[in-house]
Amino acid sequence: MLTLYTLEQKTLKSYNFLDKNDIKLALMHAYDIKSYTDYVLKLHFPIKERKEFSNILKRLINGEPIQYILGESYFYDRYFKVNKNVLIPRIETEELVDLVLKDIDKKSGNLLDLGTGSGAIAITIKSHSKLNVYASDISKKALKIAMENDNNKQVNFVHGDLLLPFIKKRIKLDYIVANLPYINPNEVVESKVKDYEPTKALFNTQLNIFKRLFKQVNRLDIPATGLSIYLEVGTMQGKEISTIAYKYLGENVKINVLNDMHGKERFVVIKDIYGN
Ligand SMILES: C[S@@+](CC[C@H](N)C(=O)[O-])C[C@H]1O[C@@H](n2cnc3c(N)ncnc32)[C@H](O)[C@@H]1O
Repeated sequence: MLTLYTLEQKTLKSYNFLDKNDIKLALMHAYDIKSYTDYVLKLHFPIKERKEFSNILKRLINGEPIQYILGESYFYDRYFKVNKNVLIPRIETEELVDLVLKDIDKKSGNLLDLGTGSGAIAITIKSHSKLNVYASDISKKALKIAMENDNNKQVNFVHGDLLLPFIKKRIKLDYIVANLPYINPNEVVESKVKDYEPTKALFNTQLNIFKRLFKQVNRLDIPATGLSIYLEVGTMQGKEISTIAYKYLGENVKINVLNDMHGKERFVVIKDIYGN
């Protein structure tokens, strides 16, 4: 008798290189099961074969990430629409959001999520704070998805290169959060990532994007209370990015390099930026 359980086991045995959770998600999608609890309850009920499952399976076997196949990805406390134009939001980035939320507490002010992709950072921070939130990206296709994810239409979306639109419009920012592309193009990257995720979201030569960002910070209108920047960075980039930050933002800024839950260097927090 065919059941979710026997189909799951058969698939795992035939394609042992696939992730067990991806197979469960594929089965849930193909059989219209909305929650994992429901999946467990229906595990041993008889089912009929569905074309939808074999279609998803084919794409998984080709190495496509399950989030792109299903068109959604879970981040922090909800699902976000994703497609090949946006990065799949990562678990480390949830920690970046937590770092910011802990600091801002009940404060107000303007926050920018720079390089917003699916909008995951901006929309999550907006729904857990009193801040006025901007989200920007150089990719119009990414912004389209981010806007679709902003169900309550609470975030201000801006198209442009780094801080240029904010310099031009003289928008005063209190906080900048950014998970910009930080992978060195020479680094070996999983083919699942390299072949499917947007190149513009991943790669950055010699930390150039951070140099440009810090140079542009000097042209921003900074509020009297100062600006804080929260960056997600690559492992072992903390020291180099700190050196660049001191060079362009001055020796008086306060910089902290923090590790992620795996104990890897992942975040650079720069506070007390008062500009020139
Ligand atoms: C690593 S992805 C992060 C996406 C999203 N913030 C997240 O954490 O899931 C980097 C994003 O930065 C955007 N980006 C790259 N260069 C940019 C630039 N010069 N100005 C603005 N956005 C840029 C990319 O289009 C991409 O959406």
